[in-house]
Amino acid sequence: MSFRIAFAGKGGTGKTTIASLLCRSLQARNIKPILAVDADPNSCLADKLGLRVARTIGALREELRARPEAKPAGISKNEWIERQINEALVESLGLDLLVMGRQEGPDCYCFINHLLREYLGRLGKQYAAVVIDNEAGLEHLSRRTDGSVDIMDLVRTLHLDIGACYLVLNQCAGPVPHAVMAQFQPTGLEPLALIPADPALAAGDVLGQSVGELPANAPAVVAVDGLVSVLLERSKR
Ligand SMILES: Nc1ncnc2c1ncn2[C@@H]1O[C@H](COP(=O)(O)OP(=O)(O)OP(=O)(O)O)[C@@H](O)[C@H]1O
Ligand SMILES: [Mg+2]
Repeated sequence: MSFRIAFAGKGGTGKTTIASLLCRSLQARNIKPILAVDADPNSCLADKLGLRVARTIGALREELRARPEAKPAGISKNEWIERQINEALVESLGLDLLVMGRQEGPDCYCFINHLLREYLGRLGKQYAAVVIDNEAGLEHLSRRTDGSVDIMDLVRTLHLDIGACYLVLNQCAGPVPHAVMAQFQPTGLEPLALIPADPALAAGDVLGQSVGELPANAPAVVAVDGLVSVLLERSKR
């Protein structure tokens, strides 16, 4: 089984929340290992997953550029980078988190970028599920913007051929008004799930809780679990 999913959408619509709830559902189903990728420079996926980030890939990239002499003698640059990325992975309960962070400086560290890409490509294949939380804005589906990870670049790197695009309506109990659906019609996207507004999520935000701390019967937890069931069913077709 190989499950790859990336979230895209406008700011504040719930991408990080749903991505983390989706990880929770996969963990509960014992689908592992999972690679969660935080591709938002203003990342907070780690908080929602209840994890601490030691180092981002952006920071690693900057360190490698600024201090090439940090590489110990006797190992190749490739091995050194692999080791560093492995150390940057936050591991917990069958889930590894990779935080891309900010892409500082000029976009010309070709050698480092090439090695990072090559390794990330191999890394992505090792996971039963890859969940990417993207930064806000649909424009990232088509072009790179300053300081951000190009989602399509990442999708290619992790060998995530786009099989299908779906619409998830968050904070929406349904039935969805015609006027709302009419807005989405031009996208041609099939609405796959409605995730209700869940007061437990808002309360958890205030308390700084991870989604793992939400009760199993919280409406958003149940709804995202339902979304995972549908996605898994579809992936078998
Ligand atoms: N179904 C829901 N019910 C109640 N609150 C929700 C729900 N989904 C998301 N929220 C809240 O909405 C806010 C924004 O959610 P979130 O951070 O997941 O959005 P985002 O799309 O990742 O935002 P950004 O574009 O800034 O990364 C958070 O406070 C979150 O707790
Ligand atoms: Mg987010």
